[in-house]
Amino acid sequence: MVNEKYKPLLEPFELPNGVQLKNRVIMAPMTNYSSNSDGTVSDDEVNYYIHRSKGVSMVITACTYVTPNGQGFPGEFAGHTDEMIPSLRRLATAIKDEGSKAILQIFHGGRQVPADIAPNGDVVSASPIAYPAEGKPVPRELTEAEVEDIIVDFGQTTRRAIEAGYDGVEIHGANTYLIQQFFSPHSNRRTDRFGGSLEKRLTFPLAVVDEVQRIVKEHATTSFIVGYRFSPEEPETPGITMSDTLVLIDELSNKNLEYLHVSLMDFWSTPKRGIEDTRSRIEIIQEAVGDRVPVIGVGSIYTAADAGNALASGIPLIGLGRGLLIDPDWVQKIEQGREEEIVTKLDLDKQQELVMPTPLWNRIINNPGWVPGV
Ligand SMILES: Cc1cc2nc3c(=O)[nH]c(=O)nc-3n(C[C@H](O)[C@H](O)[C@H](O)COP(=O)(O)O)c2cc1C
Repeated sequence: MVNEKYKPLLEPFELPNGVQLKNRVIMAPMTNYSSNSDGTVSDDEVNYYIHRSKGVSMVITACTYVTPNGQGFPGEFAGHTDEMIPSLRRLATAIKDEGSKAILQIFHGGRQVPADIAPNGDVVSASPIAYPAEGKPVPRELTEAEVEDIIVDFGQTTRRAIEAGYDGVEIHGANTYLIQQFFSPHSNRRTDRFGGSLEKRLTFPLAVVDEVQRIVKEHATTSFIVGYRFSPEEPETPGITMSDTLVLIDELSNKNLEYLHVSLMDFWSTPKRGIEDTRSRIEIIQEAVGDRVPVIGVGSIYTAADAGNALASGIPLIGLGRGLLIDPDWVQKIEQGREEEIVTKLDLDKQQELVMPTPLWNRIINNPGWVPGV
């Protein structure tokens, strides 16, 4: 029997386009480094998703690149050509067969693409400014025509997602990648129509949204989900501040999206700068968005109580990343009133049982502190 306290987590939710989610728990997108070398999804990767798609209402996949110079990780699956549609379909089908909505996260890594992955080592971004970390390359500034091509590429990968049977796409505008690089005053120093002022730095992210929605209108039924993920702040100066983000989300909230997804490592983190407000970022964002579009909050939610408290803050949908790596049966345990049995630290003896592909497992093991228990 479900514990009364946690019933709200299991309540259905209707997205603005009428799609019903069976509960409030979403699998956050997580790169797993495990695709085949030809860019197709691997058996291990598909099995990993099958084991995590039963309880949650919506699975947002690892990011997929929309064009070759957007691939950000080794073993990232490809979404940039029609030849990849069967591979994309295999993943969508596996997720949907377990009873969850399947959302494809669409992505370009920009200046975060490792030079040894970028075709001919040609790392590109809004402007020739390296990411502020040791050893990062100075990217080549994209021409206006190339920027326009990438906008089209996001649309084309959306078309492939539709043809492959996904329930939606998530535009990856977070975590320092290309879309965020265009919005950021650190990485975008352009003086053409894609940069120069806050409004102009919004041009690329909003053009991607428009193109994706145009393709959806042309190719999908009205129930196709389009979400947008963003990171609210950057540590650098210049860099995205909370007040910049309030402008971004005001624009996004008027775009008829199905959800906005805030990327945070700690659900309750507070703003660094740009705003006089001591509340958590997620609460400030939820207030600014109002009831225009549902918000997904995420970050260090491991126990049922963590999720219950997050939901009680007024955020309608809760994302789980690492929690589902550690315990694939997270939601089922709440459904069965066994929430005390949810595992919150990775058991280092259970790679097989947890159905974790080896490249993902090794990344985690080699980065102590990333996942609890390691
Ligand atoms: C292994 C791993 C891979 C990730 N890959 C992605 C990704 O492809 N796209 C993305 O938007 N976020 C990615 N993230 C961030 C997560 O979606 C999430 O925001 C973050 O882990 C915080 O949530 P959590 O505390 O529930 O894990 C990744 C996180 C982890 C741990």
